[in-house]
Amino acid sequence: MPSIGLGIDTTFDDTSVAILLGKSEILANLTLSQFEDHEEFGGVLPERASRKHLEVIHHLIFKALKEADKDFKEIDYIAVSNYPGLLGSLLVGLMVAKSLAFTLKCPLIGVNHVEAHPYANVLTHGAIKFPILHLVVAGGHTLLMNASDHFNYKIIGQSLDDAAGECVDKVAKMFGHPMPGGPIVDLAAQQFPGDTFSFPRPLMHKKDYNFSFSGLKTAMLRFSEKNSDKLSTRNNSSNFIKGEGPVLSSFFQSVIDVLIYKTFKAAKKFELKNISVSGGLAASKMLRLAFEEEAAKKSINLFYPPPKLCTDNAAMVTCLAAHKYEVKQFDDLNLEAFPNLI
Ligand code: KG4
Ligand code: ZN
Repeated sequence: MPSIGLGIDTTFDDTSVAILLGKSEILANLTLSQFEDHEEFGGVLPERASRKHLEVIHHLIFKALKEADKDFKEIDYIAVSNYPGLLGSLLVGLMVAKSLAFTLKCPLIGVNHVEAHPYANVLTHGAIKFPILHLVVAGGHTLLMNASDHFNYKIIGQSLDDAAGECVDKVAKMFGHPMPGGPIVDLAAQQFPGDTFSFPRPLMHKKDYNFSFSGLKTAMLRFSEKNSDKLSTRNNSSNFIKGEGPVLSSFFQSVIDVLIYKTFKAAKKFELKNISVSGGLAASKMLRLAFEEEAAKKSINLFYPPPKLCTDNAAMVTCLAAHKYEVKQFDDLNLEAFPNLI
């Protein structure tokens, strides 16, 4: 009998609950985004985020069970992301997961949220082909992981300052767009393709596989200050103010070029023929196209999930937990939450 897992993700500003059958069949995957609740603050307010998770999580669990047509009695394990994220938000998910595991007398499985992102590809394409290079481009982390199996991987590159998603969000905000900035920057790149302004490609030609995007963010700030006369003030009649589209598009081209260059260079160096891309920024159409084009040129097997599974969701968390359940990697009720990745 395939296992049935109930998974919870409350790492940041999305509350998500999933029910998974076996290792990859999604029976329910429900996510409530809070970004409208934080809009007036120009960023996520941690205290408000935890309160919002608390308000909706029980409702979401019952809704997910109903959609999956399952009962609590049928659940074999409870999965929860216990790091990294906002501590208050993580604690809401963790406490609910512990209560469920205790009451249902079933195993509790803690999951690293960033490690879970690549499992969006298992949900999409089936079992992962190892060895594989995982690129995770989430809001708070940009990571390159060389994985030899599910539980053995080396981080070979990571963001030293702002992650790619964070940089995109901050630049979009600089131009007056609400959070999250990724979709609007991606739209600019689709509507105004090209690299008119050739912004910097930070660390692109450095020997290692680390990333740094804060210098690019500063370059964008300087550029917008210098050219404020050409970038006219916002009106609501179009998505972009005059002159802004090609600027955002060129900026995004820099981000894409760095991600593509470093990832494929790492694949060559470590002799990996499989690459998986995941994380919220991977929901970008332009990033996906760039990866598909390069993978075809270099005869690399590319694993890429649909946009809904790129952004935060509990199905990817439950999917990684299902692999842990299979080998009985369980946690006890002393499981803690941690804000940081390591
Ligand atoms: O993985 P994620 O949902 O959350 C974290 O784990 O941090 O990633 C959030 C990031 C943000 O930078 C957001 O702007 C970006 O994903 N994002 C997108 C799209 N949707 C979300 N970027 C480009 N295109 C999208 N459609
Ligand atoms: Zn995430």
